[in-house]
Amino acid sequence: MHILLTGGAGFIGSNFVHFVLRNRPQCTLTNLDSLTYSGNLENLTAAENNPRYRFVKGDICDDALVAKLIEDCDAIVHMAAESHVDRSILDSKPFVISNVIGTQTLLDAARKAKGGAWLKKGRFVYVSTDEVYGSLPLEDKSALFTEETPLQTNSPYSASKAGGDMLARAYHHTFHMDVVTTRCSNNFGPYQFPEKVIPLFVTNLIEGKQVPLYGDGKNVRDWLHVDDHCEAVLTALEKGKAGEVYNVGGNNERSNLELTHSILKIMGFGPEMIRPVADRPGHDRRYAIDASKIKRELGWTPTRSAWPHALEDTIRWYKDNAQWWQRVKSGAYRAYYEQQYSKR
Ligand code: NAD
Ligand code: TYD
Repeated sequence: MHILLTGGAGFIGSNFVHFVLRNRPQCTLTNLDSLTYSGNLENLTAAENNPRYRFVKGDICDDALVAKLIEDCDAIVHMAAESHVDRSILDSKPFVISNVIGTQTLLDAARKAKGGAWLKKGRFVYVSTDEVYGSLPLEDKSALFTEETPLQTNSPYSASKAGGDMLARAYHHTFHMDVVTTRCSNNFGPYQFPEKVIPLFVTNLIEGKQVPLYGDGKNVRDWLHVDDHCEAVLTALEKGKAGEVYNVGGNNERSNLELTHSILKIMGFGPEMIRPVADRPGHDRRYAIDASKIKRELGWTPTRSAWPHALEDTIRWYKDNAQWWQRVKSGAYRAYYEQQYSKR
């Protein structure tokens, strides 16, 4: 199978490249990525000479390029996106362009590829997010997002991802495109851009800096190791049913305060390293996933996300790969992050 992967130079995409090359000897991959601030070819040095892999620098909004690349592929795994909630609060336009227009460009090129013949045999996997469901209350621990939960987006990021998600659904409904959608919880692991909470906090601590905890720290996220997510996407690609949505989660809920204390403990720091900062506007309180459908119907279940070992391994990766994140963290990005939230 030849896969056209979009966003393969980002965190999950680069892990997906390595995962597929390791686990599917018959698969070849073309990685289309425009290398925004979060795209980094250093994530892919181990793959760059592999004859089963090729990189194409380009934008998913480029009709002609996308049309050309789809001609050769059997399946599209669409991960390219603007992915950070805080950035979407500062400026939502790039989110609408990449996450909505970019998805529409890919879907429409797939519809038209090979004079309409691609539509009859190609598969389109849309990598969505649990954030499209909005927020759950902290009080009711039994409440979970299921695939039937209505989409109720709260951030410009999640709204733009829901736009792509609904377009993918529409192309299945209207044109009978073979679309499968995954909606996954928060990922952690190697090569995550250090604006997301785990790599930001871990690398700050290695640098001897405090960690900025938003609001009261009671917000809850369900943490999944990135390789478990990659395996779930591959499972959806290989075994998913056309037109279906599959939730993907780790059954691993932690409040931000709990997560922060775990990181501090593993790294040998005390609570004085927490810097309470103003809350994120519109901050979703709790995400929690019911992932029973993908287990029941496709046999996927997480095996790499067990806490605290998976967190310890991830922290070790950032300690062992300081050059990677030091380069990423230097320059304009640092100023951006420093300005973002004022001290409370
Ligand atoms: P990321 O920001 O690390 O990577 C995104 C990649 O997409 C980058 O390489 C970037 O260069 C590329 N890209 C962005 N706009 C593009 C465009 N217009 N054309 C071509 N390439 C473009 O993001 P990530 O955390 O790896 O997330 C990947 C996908 O998974 C996203 O669709 C995201 O919504 C989804 N997702 C992420 C998480 C998470 O916890 N990180 C959870 C669930 C779903
Ligand atoms: P993040 O990694 O940005 O993922 P998402 O917003 O997509 O869930 O944030 C995870 C949680 O950590 C979220 O509740 C916001 C919180 N957070 C902080 O408290 N401080 C920070 O500096 C960041 C980036 C996030």
